[in-house]
Amino acid sequence: MLQHELPLPMAGLHDVKALMKTLPPSIHVLVTGASGGIGRAICFALIEQARKDGANIRISAAATQPGARLEQLVDELRAAGAQAGGVAGDITDPAQCAALVVQAESQGGDLTALICNAGASGPGRLADMPPAQWDTTFNLNTRSAWLLAQAAREGLSRTRGSITAVASMSGLTPHPGYGAYSAAKAALIMLCRQLAQEWAADGIRVNTVCPGMIRTPLTEAVYQDATTLAKRESLVPLGRIGRAEDVGTTVAWLTSPGASYITGQNLAVDGGISDHMLSLIPGRPGKPPAGQAGP
Ligand SMILES: NC(=O)c1ccc[n+]([C@@H]2O[C@H](COP(=O)([O-])OP(=O)(O)OC[C@H]3O[C@@H](n4cnc5c(N)ncnc54)[C@H](OP(=O)(O)O)[C@@H]3O)[C@@H](O)[C@H]2O)c1
Repeated sequence: MLQHELPLPMAGLHDVKALMKTLPPSIHVLVTGASGGIGRAICFALIEQARKDGANIRISAAATQPGARLEQLVDELRAAGAQAGGVAGDITDPAQCAALVVQAESQGGDLTALICNAGASGPGRLADMPPAQWDTTFNLNTRSAWLLAQAAREGLSRTRGSITAVASMSGLTPHPGYGAYSAAKAALIMLCRQLAQEWAADGIRVNTVCPGMIRTPLTEAVYQDATTLAKRESLVPLGRIGRAEDVGTTVAWLTSPGASYITGQNLAVDGGISDHMLSLIPGRPGKPPAGQAGP
């Protein structure tokens, strides 16, 4: 019998360690908002990243409620090569945040990554916004990430894992008419920087991404209007509206070994729009007047 064929109880510690090294690493990721536009793309990008890294992957796909949509996603993830299971809970409720992590861990063990993607914007002027709208926006977009992270911390510290949260360009730049959302996403970015500092000693990395204008089922109605689409594209230095996959591949990379020395960072996935404001100022020296752009 060859050394590596020894049954584990008969093998020495050295043999077990050697055997472990030959096994592919295992990844277990909890993704919130997994059946939404960006969440789906994150799940499939994680599978692709795991394939590149030679790892086995399990995805715990979280939705607000169980049901056919979540089951279909789980089937698709399995067909794409992952182990997958669905978990459900409303993340504006602290108890359900903790329960989501417990469900995921009971299905697949300690998490190696937590992706806090679920969130939603909603219009509302600060002048007359009811406090309940402010609270819901913060509970969904900001507090949930902290509570999910708290629940996952012990497991993540055992796996030296990571947390990545999906914020928004609205968290980098004020978004008039979306006062609570903008403030909540800005707070999410700082929360993650804070967690990165507090939990670095546990080996847990924490980062955020800020999508710009991304075409997802949530925003699709806006892009059905060709004039609005063209106007929006003209504001993006890279000349196009983002795809959910643009965000997905970035998030997947941030969870991967390739990003193992990155923590406390925010990465805008926005085609350059967040930095574009100064290009819009008319009449600057060296800039042709509007409508007289040179070749
Ligand atoms: N699309 C963009 O242009 C854009 C730009 C910047 C930032 N973002 C951010 O990107 C993230 C994903 O957005 P998306 O465009 O993919 O939107 P989406 O398709 O509406 O997905 C949002 C997801 O959040 C989940 N969710 C909402 N409320 C929840 C709750 N109370 N408890 C648990 N889950 C909840 C939803 O789950 P269920 O479907 O199960 O209810 C949904 O799957 C959000 O954080 C959003 O703020 C998006």
